[in-house]
Amino acid sequence: ISRSFSRPRSSSERPSFGVAFDIDGVILRGNAPIGGSPRALGRLYDDSIGTLKVPYVFLTNGGGVPESKRALELEKQLGVNILSSQVIQGHTPFKQLVKRFEKELIIAVGKGEPAVVMSEYGFKNVLSIDDYASCFDNIDPLWHFKKWTTGNVSDQINTIRSSVCSQRVQAAFVVSDSIDWSRDIQVLCDILRTGGLPGSKIAHQPPLYFASDDLEYQAVFPSERLGMGAFRIALESIFNRIHPSALEYTSFGKPNTSVFRNAETVLRELVHSSSDTIQSANDKIGGNQVFRTLYMVGDNPSVDIKGARQAGHPWFSILTRTGVFKGKENHDEYPADLVVDTVEEAVDYILRKEG
Ligand code: G3P
Ligand code: MG
Repeated sequence: ISRSFSRPRSSSERPSFGVAFDIDGVILRGNAPIGGSPRALGRLYDDSIGTLKVPYVFLTNGGGVPESKRALELEKQLGVNILSSQVIQGHTPFKQLVKRFEKELIIAVGKGEPAVVMSEYGFKNVLSIDDYASCFDNIDPLWHFKKWTTGNVSDQINTIRSSVCSQRVQAAFVVSDSIDWSRDIQVLCDILRTGGLPGSKIAHQPPLYFASDDLEYQAVFPSERLGMGAFRIALESIFNRIHPSALEYTSFGKPNTSVFRNAETVLRELVHSSSDTIQSANDKIGGNQVFRTLYMVGDNPSVDIKGARQAGHPWFSILTRTGVFKGKENHDEYPADLVVDTVEEAVDYILRKEG
């Protein structure tokens, strides 16, 4: 199966609109498709040849696996072809920090494969907080009560133990949701208040980055679940009680305007990389794809809709009722341009409007 756009017959036929889909609460709940998402996405492909006819991306604050792996998972869940470049996760912008921390020891926190994610971005000296914590005996005083941990240290960790303990951690990245808040808060406080050398004296805090700051998100359970923003609040509250200066951190992900600007760039590149021979050299050099409208389909008013509204033209926000937002009318504080029940209804509206 070809993994590209259907070739437009002339450059003027290139789509002048694109779509960004939130994942949790719009496309999936847990691992299950919702709101007719496979059917809705299927309509964005050319039936006869199975290639994309409408440029779209997934714009999620979630993550924990590399974009290439997430694209394959989504393909299985949704039954359509998905390029890695169509998957923008909360941690995707961490790539921008490779130059600064390329060879420095950094720690990656969260579910899934946080260290693999960072290595794929080009960070050369990254350890997951699991591996890092296991270099320090008893750093987590509760470890033997935690039935999911074996306490066994791999040979690989044993060999790097002494060098890791003596190297300063230069930055910590919260890539995805922390699995073990008590251990991660403890170890992060150790790293952050000692300038990156747990067990040593108080020193300047190394940089701390979060992939997103969602207080809550929609998973399988009927009411919202605590997200990375909740973990950040817990860590920050504790850190600020035990350290003389307040926690400094940077959060990426929606609703930051830069995320929406980047999505626009990715959508433009998606159109450009697809139309190989037909598009004139001028178009390619100029990169002059202009979108009349970009649709953000999300379920969380204070994240997806706030972000699209802040980003301004050409973003148009569509709020679904399949996730965090469950109201009858529009949201009071962050009203969307359109409220629909499901993602299928959203795609229906977009295709009708774009004719
Ligand atoms: O952990 C995932 C959550 O933060 C939100 O994901 O797809 O709704 O942006 P999403
Ligand atoms: Mg969501």
